[in-house]
Amino acid sequence: MLATTRTKTVFSRGSHTAKVVFLGEAPGADEDAEGIPFVGRAGQLLDKMITAMGLDPAEDVYVCNILKCRPPANRRPTPDEMETCFPFVHEQLQLVNPDVIVALGNTAVTALLGTNIGITKLRGSWKLYRGKIPVMPTYHPSYLLRPTETQAESKKQVWDDLKEVLKKLGRQVPVRKT
Ligand code: URA
Repeated sequence: MLATTRTKTVFSRGSHTAKVVFLGEAPGADEDAEGIPFVGRAGQLLDKMITAMGLDPAEDVYVCNILKCRPPANRRPTPDEMETCFPFVHEQLQLVNPDVIVALGNTAVTALLGTNIGITKLRGSWKLYRGKIPVMPTYHPSYLLRPTETQAESKKQVWDDLKEVLKKLGRQVPVRKT
C-alpha cells in the first residue's frame, strides 16, 4: 500500500482543457514532496520538450502519471499498483478528453494499451486508447537523461515523435530541436 509510505498524492498539473496529455510512470522524490507531477530533473526536461513544441506547459498540456503515489526508492510500479491506480487515470482521461496522449515510457504504455511490447519497438507509431484517443508512445524523459551510447539518437527519436503529435494536432512544427 503506497499510501502508507508516500508524503503527498500526486495528481496532475497543467490545463484540464488541454488537447495533449503527457502520461508518465509514477512520482519520484521531488514530486512526492511537492504533490505535483514532473517537477524534478525529468520534469524540467519534459517542460523543455513541451516548450520546444511551441506549447505552454501550464496552458496547453495536462501532465499526470499512472501511479498517484511514489513507490519506495523509485522502484518500478507493480502490476497490482498499476491496476489499483488505473481507474483514476481513466477518469482523468475522460474528463480532459484530449485529442492526443503522449505515453512516456514502458509503464505508461503497458497500462494504457495493455501490451507488454517494449517502448523501443512501440515508439513512433500511433496506437489508440480504448479505440478512441490516439496515443503516441515515446521514451520517458528520465531515460533521455541517462548517458548511454544511444542518448543522442534517442533524443532525436523523441523529437520525431513529438513532431508527429504536432502534425496530428494540426499545429506547425517548429524547426528547432530539444
Ligand atoms: N517520472 C515520472 O514518471 N513522473 C514524475 O512525475 C516524475 C518522474
